[in-house]
Amino acid sequence: MKFFIDTANIEQIKEANDLGILDGVTTNPTLMAKEGIKGHDAIMAHYKTICEIVDGPVSAEVFGTKFEDIVEEGKKLALIHPNIVVKVPMIKDGIKAIKWFTDNGIKTNCTLVFSAGQAILAAKAGATFVSPFLGRIDDSSWDGIQLIEQIVNIYNVQGYMTEVLAASIRTPLHIVRCAEAGADICTCPLPSILGLLKHPLTDLGLQQFLNDAKTMQ
Ligand code: E4P
Repeated sequence: MKFFIDTANIEQIKEANDLGILDGVTTNPTLMAKEGIKGHDAIMAHYKTICEIVDGPVSAEVFGTKFEDIVEEGKKLALIHPNIVVKVPMIKDGIKAIKWFTDNGIKTNCTLVFSAGQAILAAKAGATFVSPFLGRIDDSSWDGIQLIEQIVNIYNVQGYMTEVLAASIRTPLHIVRCAEAGADICTCPLPSILGLLKHPLTDLGLQQFLNDAKTMQ
């Protein structure tokens, strides 16, 4: 399973990238706004900076919801860097735009996916990635992991090439469950990635080894 980081924060992207386990980045308008980025030029420059840090797909979301607007925006985003993936919402015009991007060699990430039916449409349109939002499903007391399993199974049975990018990750356990479910990618906030490191027995064991090492010096 590949690891993407789900943030527009440059420091966090650098920290995850320095670990050597980062395969890509996802952003969305909420994450970009959180960094105080304003205006067309600043947005474009921020994506460029991210692409220069991480050698992997970087999802940049369109703001438009009409086919023509999505295509216009997506074309401009795709010109920023070869690693840019145009992130398109799961709506009727979005599916039409994803098909257009597919036919024109532009990579896409179909976002705001909450059902297997939506994931089938994204794959039919040729999306490079599909983003089921598992945390938001869990937040509404449904089972997000069940949806990841269902989409992975359908894509395997049907031979769809779209990669399952589990999004809206809240905890390290979500990451483990996504790996079990066969997700191709997990896009995670930095604390969830770092949470995978933690185990009290590791800390206790290391302390003991360090103490014993001192007695031998
Ligand atoms: C990433 O592609 C999604 O936009 C993101 O994971 C959504 O996460 P949230 O549900 O924590 O906002």
